[in-house]
Amino acid sequence: MKRIGILISGRGSNMVALAEAVSGGKVPGAEIALVISNIETAAGLERARERGIEGIFLNHKGKTREEHDRAMAAELHRRSVDLVCLAGYMRLLSPWFIREFEHRVLNIHPSLLPSFPGLDAQGQAIEYGVKASGCTVHLVDEQLDHGPIIKQAVVPVMPGDTAGSLSARILDEEHRIYPEAVALIVSGNYRIDGRRIIE
Ligand code: GRF
Repeated sequence: MKRIGILISGRGSNMVALAEAVSGGKVPGAEIALVISNIETAAGLERARERGIEGIFLNHKGKTREEHDRAMAAELHRRSVDLVCLAGYMRLLSPWFIREFEHRVLNIHPSLLPSFPGLDAQGQAIEYGVKASGCTVHLVDEQLDHGPIIKQAVVPVMPGDTAGSLSARILDEEHRIYPEAVALIVSGNYRIDGRRIIE
């Protein structure tokens, strides 16, 4: 059984999508061990607990990035977590954490990387005038929104779209492909060749 830890900072809709996929048998061989939020009031924490998933708050304030990451890793190791999923976790991870869980940290980003990394990817897409955008699940490396791509989904940008309407369209696809990507990684049926994930 692979044990998944999920890091959040906010509403946690991707965390819920992962939890529902796991409980619905769509991620064979996986269980969710823990949700960690760096924001005490994150709605996602409550949504995790409602589902019977342990949710804890770890404050990053007053700590260096690595100190906070070491505290998170200690909680993850204590529960024998194999795989870490970032789901709206709004902080960079330290190089220490990335090495500690090498090739075992996944992230979802609301654009077709390498376009529009960083904050407000959907707003960046609207501003740029692209006709299509989407989302990307990737392995996390030491650069922001950068590691090898596991899955992507494309959505059209419609005339009159705002960052909000585009975000909603992309979010539906996020909830679909994140569990698929996690299922692939849990299955072990892939190999990493440089930037490429080969199924
Ligand atoms: C999602 O758009 C995700 O792609 C991005 O942050 C947002 C998190 O939303 N990394 P939620 O907390 O999963 O609802």
